[in-house]
Amino acid sequence: MNNKKKFKNSYKLYEKSKRFIPLAAQTFSKSSMNFVFGASPLFISRGKGAFTWDIDNNKFIDYLLGLLPIILGHCDKDVDDAIKNQLKKGITFSLSNQLEFQLAKQLSAIIPCAENTRFAKNGSDVTTAAIRLARAVTGKERIATCGYHGWHDWYIGTTTRNLGVPKSEIKLTSKFNYNEISSLEKVLRKHKGEFAAVILEPCINVEPTNDFLRILRKICDDQKILLIFDEIVTGFRIDLGGAQTFYNVIPDLACFGKAMGNGMPISALVGKKIYMDKIEDIFFSGTFAGETLSLAASLTTIQKIIRKNVPKKINSTGKILKTEINKLIKKQDLENLVSIGGPNWKPIIEVKSLPNKILFTSLLKQEFIKEGMLMSAGINLCLAHADKKIISDTLKKWSVVLKNIKSYSNSDHPSDFLKGDLVKPVFEVRRSK
Ligand SMILES: Cc1ncc(COP(=O)(O)O)c(C=O)c1O
Repeated sequence: MNNKKKFKNSYKLYEKSKRFIPLAAQTFSKSSMNFVFGASPLFISRGKGAFTWDIDNNKFIDYLLGLLPIILGHCDKDVDDAIKNQLKKGITFSLSNQLEFQLAKQLSAIIPCAENTRFAKNGSDVTTAAIRLARAVTGKERIATCGYHGWHDWYIGTTTRNLGVPKSEIKLTSKFNYNEISSLEKVLRKHKGEFAAVILEPCINVEPTNDFLRILRKICDDQKILLIFDEIVTGFRIDLGGAQTFYNVIPDLACFGKAMGNGMPISALVGKKIYMDKIEDIFFSGTFAGETLSLAASLTTIQKIIRKNVPKKINSTGKILKTEINKLIKKQDLENLVSIGGPNWKPIIEVKSLPNKILFTSLLKQEFIKEGMLMSAGINLCLAHADKKIISDTLKKWSVVLKNIKSYSNSDHPSDFLKGDLVKPVFEVRRSK
């Protein structure tokens, strides 16, 4: 018997929605593929602070946070008031608005490379703009990349999800391994003098080691390649000024998005003025780029991140959860199956059981849902999670999850305990090296 009863409205809506919306979702990671189909909710109706409710009114501690845009908490009063105040004045206008200047100035004050800024809506908009700009500035075409940078051709062509991307585009982007300078050097050597940019997430599921970022900076300087940090995830979480502040390595251009509007759709390409000036010559333009509700939300979000020292709180919550959950894992003698790794600001759930990796990933996700936690491959944190009661409830829930996983792992047929379909990974892009 699966859990469909508990999620009756979700599955009813799924059947109806599928007739009009492929996958019944807009994002792979928010779709049924990423959860145990049959034992998980499929639609969320509302959120408040660190909690969300599905359309059957089941309550969850939200450790997904809409894939990380929520940094303060759902329905933050200050941000919502800023949106409402701006709404009274209008949303989208025919000339620029003063909020663009105010937010660009704010970013410039906190992000080291942000001498100039241009706004957009999605992370993919600004990673692609950074690539076009780097090509225009250097007069070169090739890109070296590691990490995830969105859905556009230049990047997604390098993954297994490259259907529909022209081969001519795919061959211009080469991948290297995080924390492995030799793999970048090999890529650059193969097409010497042809690279416009190196783009990477400065911290992925592991911290940079052996001066990785500083050496990257030097290689780019020596070979006249632009260094682009994709800070769509690290931004406002690892440190107020992003990973470039935290590791004190300054890129030429950087991309921010997700957390900067506490859920409102806004992203920013920032960078050194000598390069950003060239934006006036390339084409990077969008009807909604100066939409004012998101600008107002972002200004208030960033001011609150500063006032409440959010990166510090996220880091300390993550550290507590990592340490205490790893103790619970040890108590159940499950270290060979799962551990919590990754940086404190974004702990990662590492399922180790290789032959059964997908099964145990699925079982874990099933148990998280059963215990009332919306959680996937990582523990995504916001200010609202810093509450002591939420932390202790989370640990209690993990304790039950791990007890159940232990009993499943002792069984000859752990798959008998899965009450729905296995999860289906889209692709693995954030390898640990
Ligand atoms: C590091 C990174 N870059 C770029 C993107 C693309 O952002 P968006 O989905 O807003 O286009 C994402 C999205 O998850 C991301 O994590």
